[in-house]
Amino acid sequence: MKYREYLVQTLPDLAKTSVDLPSSLHIVGHVALVNMRTEDPQILASVGQATLGFDKRIKSVAVRIGPTSGVDRKPSFRLVAGDPRTETIHVEDGVKFKLDPLEITFSRGNRRERHLVGRQVKPGEVVVDMFSCVGQFAFHAASVEDVQVVAIEVSQRTYDYLVEGITLNGFGDRVKPILGDCRTKHPDGIADRVYMGFLHETNRYLPHALESLKQAGGVIHMHMTHPEREVETVSKGIQAICLEHGRSSSISSRRIKWYSPGIMHRVYEIMVST
Ligand SMILES: C[S@@+](CC[C@H](N)C(=O)[O-])C[C@H]1O[C@@H](n2cnc3c(N)ncnc32)[C@H](O)[C@@H]1O
Repeated sequence: MKYREYLVQTLPDLAKTSVDLPSSLHIVGHVALVNMRTEDPQILASVGQATLGFDKRIKSVAVRIGPTSGVDRKPSFRLVAGDPRTETIHVEDGVKFKLDPLEITFSRGNRRERHLVGRQVKPGEVVVDMFSCVGQFAFHAASVEDVQVVAIEVSQRTYDYLVEGITLNGFGDRVKPILGDCRTKHPDGIADRVYMGFLHETNRYLPHALESLKQAGGVIHMHMTHPEREVETVSKGIQAICLEHGRSSSISSRRIKWYSPGIMHRVYEIMVST
């Protein structure tokens, strides 16, 4: 049964009022994350309690209370029902991620992209994930045979979860975590593929991604947000940066999701050669 239908059945009195019941939820480990337009504590508690019964994985329910902020992309949620312990293990395509989804963003809209990582990466590649977070791209890459991954994360708390995730998945030294700013902490000249899963002026980090690539070249997956009409301008900008660094490039891009009204999240796949 769909979540909204379930809520209408479970909370018939509330469903008859003008309250806009949520139509979807995002389950991260045992935590359900819900967007609701109301701030009424009684309504939030009712929807929270009902949500606990929607899926057997759900033990805690939180609602969004503000935007995601800061360089570490901290979300803003408040617990409204269930277990206050929201640290959890989320499993996706057999890969485990440890995190507290009330503290760290695990994007629902990027699910397809994470899934694709496991298909794009080829056995034996060396991969650098410049904005690793808790391993969203790094761990899917490391699941491919004989792949070595360098995962860079600037926030200490997030880095600690990344390290726990490496152990949980038994990756051993196939994933090397680095704590720090990817602009200064990236390895040079080793990567076949670089992931840049960050959405704010990501092109400013591109010179460092180029430094990480092997001399012979490779692929950079650069995520960006901007109005759709700017795709060509962004592509030309990428090409110019590559040329400034003595590299040729061919670029394709795909939509990931609407980020905000009028602003699209796109990934640019940059094939870099000498
Ligand atoms: C929004 S998360 C993205 C996670 C994942 N790459 C994805 O796309 O789902 C961005 C992560 O990059 C980290 N970060 C931001 N600036 C960084 C920098 N200069 N060097 C390394 N990590 C950085 C943040 O702390 C955060 O964990």
